[in-house]
Amino acid sequence: MIYRFDILGSTNDEARNPLYREGDVIIAERQTAGRGQRGHTWESAEGKNLTFSLILEPKFLPINEQFLLSEVLALGLVDTFAEYGIEAKIKWTNDIYVGEKKIVGMLIENSLGGGALARTIAGIGLNINQTEFDPSLPNPTSMALVAGCEFDREDVLSRLHANILSLYEALRRGQKEMLQSRYRSTMYRLGEKHPYALPDGSIFEGIIRGVRPSGELLIEHTADGSLQEYLFKQVEFIIKK
Ligand code: BTN
Repeated sequence: MIYRFDILGSTNDEARNPLYREGDVIIAERQTAGRGQRGHTWESAEGKNLTFSLILEPKFLPINEQFLLSEVLALGLVDTFAEYGIEAKIKWTNDIYVGEKKIVGMLIENSLGGGALARTIAGIGLNINQTEFDPSLPNPTSMALVAGCEFDREDVLSRLHANILSLYEALRRGQKEMLQSRYRSTMYRLGEKHPYALPDGSIFEGIIRGVRPSGELLIEHTADGSLQEYLFKQVEFIIKK
């Protein structure tokens, strides 16, 4: 079911209501308290984009394999963009990029029950027809900016919903290697030399070599050839504006 709201605080917060079921989508034309990663807010021009949350109940998935859900969601987005002729990449962990710009942000919130994953709220902010952004945002883009034309938001939502659920069913059937290898080969900056920052502010040059099944990013340090692994928040991409 798709539940539509003109206005909500955050669709991710609304999605916590146990009334909603697996596969349901909670979508708002406007969020007054849209949430992003790392405590940031998510701003989106009213009526131009998609801001929604998808409910999943991945009770079949061990907790330590929850990164596979990120893979399902990211690949569902990449597949949907491909249907519109847009080549998108996955910026570890959950951002979708076109070129050097961010077109989708995701906030995935898992809750546990009885030692397993009980519910996943996948909050997705996808820029579609917005062409002007707050200059304080680092590097936003939209489908309209990339393609030079407007898109039907309902069509994007229904394709995306179908693509994510199809990959989710593949995960349920156990096609984990397929998801891992597709995620890896679609990674932004895979195999390229770029600078990265550590939490202490130091900068190093490295090459992304892939991602562990548990989600750690693998970067080869060009200074000494060592392969290091990083958890979320342990390393930051340096991206020019
Ligand atoms: C990020 O890149 O920081 C994540 C942004 C996630 C935004 C979406 S919009 C729909 C859902 N509801 C929220 O409050 N946040 C997510």
